[in-house]
Amino acid sequence: MTSLHKSTQLHNSYEPVVAVVVAAGSGVRLGEGGPKALRTVGGRALVAHAVDALAAGGAARVVVVGRGELAADFSRALGTAPIPWTLVEGGVERQDSVAHGLAEAARVVPSARHVLVHDAARPFVPAAVVSAVIAALRAGASAVIPAIPVVDTIRVADPRPGEATVVDRSRLRAVQTPQGFDLATLARAHDHVRSAGVAVTDDAMACEAIGVQVTLVDGSRDSLKVTEPFDLLVAEAVWRQRTAAIAERTSR
Ligand code: CTP
Ligand code: MG
Repeated sequence: MTSLHKSTQLHNSYEPVVAVVVAAGSGVRLGEGGPKALRTVGGRALVAHAVDALAAGGAARVVVVGRGELAADFSRALGTAPIPWTLVEGGVERQDSVAHGLAEAARVVPSARHVLVHDAARPFVPAAVVSAVIAALRAGASAVIPAIPVVDTIRVADPRPGEATVVDRSRLRAVQTPQGFDLATLARAHDHVRSAGVAVTDDAMACEAIGVQVTLVDGSRDSLKVTEPFDLLVAEAVWRQRTAAIAERTSR
């Protein structure tokens, strides 16, 4: 390793990492019970769990993108957050919400070089996943995504006759968040997809649209995305198991 590389790493290790948590969706698929980010597991809102997880993995501050009319509820939910937070208004689509969050991240931490973009719908991402994303950024990657192997056999519905219908599972990965980026690169990618009208489903795809290579790190099954009522049951189970493990450690 050259000394230049070493000094870059040293410098980077002191840079605060800012996270954007998008929480402005309405949670239609989760059904009755209020906006998804404010639904609770173990008495704590999903958005607060998400902020806890990012802080545990090394994020220094967070921009939460929520619905303006719920500002008081978000403030209450984030009252005991372990890192400083700012709340900004969401947009129509997830990408719009991310864009609002990025603008605020650059405003609150003008020196920020790296940003994490995370879904409030993934409350239990392990600290090790968050820190692996940050480590890959500090090692020089511009776009980093956590991903896990797919466990189901995947088949293409309604295939044309004679074509293979089962996809080779060994090469498939399910993509999670937090995704990590060089902040200036992600802002450029957002500008490009917006002005060119490119359809993307996540921020890594936006970066690929401007030719940036995406780096994969290991995600975790614990980092499930709460989408339907069943997922809330699984999230409760993950939470109970974690709480029990912490209680056992502290009683020893
Ligand atoms: N999100 C957002 N702004 C939007 C849409 C989504 O900030 N305009 C956020 C959600 O709050 C969520 C994440 O993006 O944390 C992923 O979206 P999804 O899981 O689809 O959540 P919802 O859009 O809330 O759920 P649904 O699609 O069932 O309504
Ligand atoms: Mg949605």
